[in-house]
Amino acid sequence: HSLQTLHTFALTSQCQQFVKINNLEQLKTQSFKPPFCLLGEGSNTVFLNDYTGTVIKMATQGVQIKERANDYLISVAAGENWHQLVSELLAKNIPGLENLALIPGTVGAAPVQNIGAYGVELAKFVESVEYFDIANKTFNTLNNAQCEFGYRDSIFKHALKNKAVITTVHLALPKGWQPVLSYGPLQQLAAVTPQAVFEQVIATRNSKLPNPYTLPNAGSFFKNPIITNQCLAALLTTFADLPHYKHGAKHHKVAAGWLIEQAGLKGYRIAGIEVHKQQALVLVNYGQSQGSDLIAMIKHIQHSVFSRYNIMLEHEVRLINNSSECHITADPT
Ligand code: EPU
Repeated sequence: HSLQTLHTFALTSQCQQFVKINNLEQLKTQSFKPPFCLLGEGSNTVFLNDYTGTVIKMATQGVQIKERANDYLISVAAGENWHQLVSELLAKNIPGLENLALIPGTVGAAPVQNIGAYGVELAKFVESVEYFDIANKTFNTLNNAQCEFGYRDSIFKHALKNKAVITTVHLALPKGWQPVLSYGPLQQLAAVTPQAVFEQVIATRNSKLPNPYTLPNAGSFFKNPIITNQCLAALLTTFADLPHYKHGAKHHKVAAGWLIEQAGLKGYRIAGIEVHKQQALVLVNYGQSQGSDLIAMIKHIQHSVFSRYNIMLEHEVRLINNSSECHITADPT
């Protein structure tokens, strides 16, 4: 089965078997014999080459809204499209998610990497996450704290990796709307309404981030590195303009896109893979490229950034080789 249209980076690849889950009963009879790979819309996963296992796509649908005293409880099936959910809730006068507009992918994938943009992370709204336990064949629930959310991180990338299939996400959206306007372009809004924030977020994203369905890409390719305050102070003596954001008391997050751009890599190309000219943190695929080209690109970026700033970038995108997820790190020397 071809995987090219099932992941937005769109490298040509095939899998041995492809299964679509349309109802939760299917999970109980589905074989999870390794290798298998759980997938939503494939906007944060890249298949580097042919995959010898089963790709299991979560496609369950359904949104339930329950009004409570101070908030709305929104229960969403894993296969629902994230942006469609944000739009539909806004149309029903249930704001809160507008900063997360236009993020590609499914609702079920959203907690895995704790999607975030423009000052808001999904974790802020998660009441609980239901999942299917692959080993026990039971349905379980985790509350917010149990999800162990962090920056682009959750328990689903660690203790529950390859052990759980997220089935339903429960979001609590408070009735008292509080806009988050910390991000630059949102501070210039004339009238602050959920709709205005929604539209500004969409305009900002469209100006920098290529549409994955017209120019294949997987969003930010690397995580913004989190470094100690001491490391930051040292870097700022040479790179005074480096954008940085406080991350707890002892760390700062620095802008990987800036590091890559200042290393002279905007527009750098290997085969059809290019460092995006509008946003250096995004890699785009113009076609005629293979997994090995992408690996060469990742290593080149990591190596260039490391030799200039002594920071090793970690890819944020999930990379799948012929039988499992893999992590690419360039040799720093
Ligand atoms: N910058 C550059 N050159 C570039 C790119 C960025 O100098 O080529 C600078 C910008 O000028 C800005 C700073 O770096 O001062 C941050 O850039 P931006 O606001 O575009 O955001 P980002 O840090 O590159 C993160 C998320 C995005 C999210 C935006 C907006 C990660 C890995 N990425 O990107 O999420 O949309 O913030 O909040 O945290 C994604 O995860 O796929 C994603 C797109």
